[in-house]
Parts: sequence; structure tokens; C-alpha cells
Amino acid sequence: MDLEALKADAARQAAAHVKSGMVVGLGTGSTAKHLVAELGRRLKEEGLKIVGVPTSERTAEQARSLGIKLATLEEEPKLDLAIDGADEIELGTLDLIKGAGGALLRERLVESAAKTFIVIADETKKVEKLGTRFKVPVEVVRFGWKSTFARLEALGVKPRRRETDGKPFVTDEQHYTFDCATGQIPDARKLAAELKAVTGVVDHGLFIGMASECLVATSTGVEVLKKK
Ligand code: A5P
Repeated sequence: MDLEALKADAARQAAAHVKSGMVVGLGTGSTAKHLVAELGRRLKEEGLKIVGVPTSERTAEQARSLGIKLATLEEEPKLDLAIDGADEIELGTLDLIKGAGGALLRERLVESAAKTFIVIADETKKVEKLGTRFKVPVEVVRFGWKSTFARLEALGVKPRRRETDGKPFVTDEQHYTFDCATGQIPDARKLAAELKAVTGVVDHGLFIGMASECLVATSTGVEVLKKK
């Protein structure tokens, strides 16, 4: 299975929802990268005119390089549409795990400000229950991080501080990320509330009730998943 080709298929289908004049939230990650590339192509070939609100410095850089006009969430607090990838999509609820790419906080801020939030993914992201394959990322302030770590351990979610090249990974908002090995999550809404209530936690990767629809690419075409 060519995952990159599937990601590009989902991204292209989502990009077709974008019309000139829209303010569009631009996600982060390897699938969102295809989306931004497709919007850049439409800008060049079709004269598409949008304002993008990027969810990371990485995405902002790619969009800028393609000539996509950008704004901050302060400048454009109401978005027509946001499009982003996910690590896991729970069938039926369309609840998500996000944040493996390290941008969950800005993603939640941008995506919750959008009228419509479309998730794009390849079929490996579908799960019956969240927590099946991915850990739940939790973004925490660096000050006192060991105390926050201990609080999360006490909650039973087995945190591990994310590192890249042997150094702690630092988000665009200058926080740390703890990846939490929850295993399958029986009640994601309850866990989301518990994580959010931990002192030192800024946000987490459980995106509950946020997705409007999910476009999931398979080798036989793009499935449109709606909430049951
Ligand atoms: C970024 O922080 C994440 O939420 C991504 O949207 C998510 O990890 C999906 O990434 P890929 O499209 O690279 O799988």
C-alpha cells in the first residue's frame, strides 16, 4: 500500500471543498502537507484566493513558500473550514487522537474556530476504540514538568517525555509533550476531562466531537465517514 499516495488522495478531495474567499485552517503533518501542496497548486493554476491560518510554524513555512496568504488566529478568529490529519479516527464517533506531529495545541485552537473541520487520513488511521495504536500526546508547561509528570503517572496514563535526537521535544508554544500509553480508552470524553484538569497540562490530543467528517483514502477510493 502506497500510504503517501493515499494521503494525497484524501488531501485532494478535501481541497476541493476550498473556495476562493474562504479563511481556511491549515493542519500539520505528513497528510496536511499534501493538502497545502494542493492548495498551492490551485492558487497557481486556478487563481484560488484564500487566507490560510496555519497550525504550526512548519505549515506556515510551506504555505508561504507556495504564495498562500496567511493570517494569525487573532487576525482571523472565525474560519470557514479547517482541514487536518489525525493519528487515530474512532469509527462511529469520529473522535480523534492528534498530536503525534507535535502541533496539537495550535491545531485545537484553529480547528475549534472553524465552522467545518474535515479530517484527512489514510485507512490505517481507522480504529474501533481510541488508544489502539497511538499514545495520547499531552502538552505541558516546562516549569515544574516533573510534578506534572508525576500527576499524570498517578492518573495511570504512563507518560513519557517526547525527545528528538536525545533532547526534549519543544512545541511551537515552547511546551513539552508527554506521550501517554493509555491502551484502548473506554471513555475518551472522561479521560479528556481528567487530563485537562491536571495542573501543568495545557492541552491533550483527544479531539472529542470536533470532526465534521473524515475523508479516509483506501486503495479503492476515498471513504467519507460521518458521525453515526
Ligand atoms: C500534528 O500535531 C498531528 O495532529 C497530525 O495532524 C497527526 O499527527 C497526523 O499526522 P500525519 O498526517 O503525519 O499522520
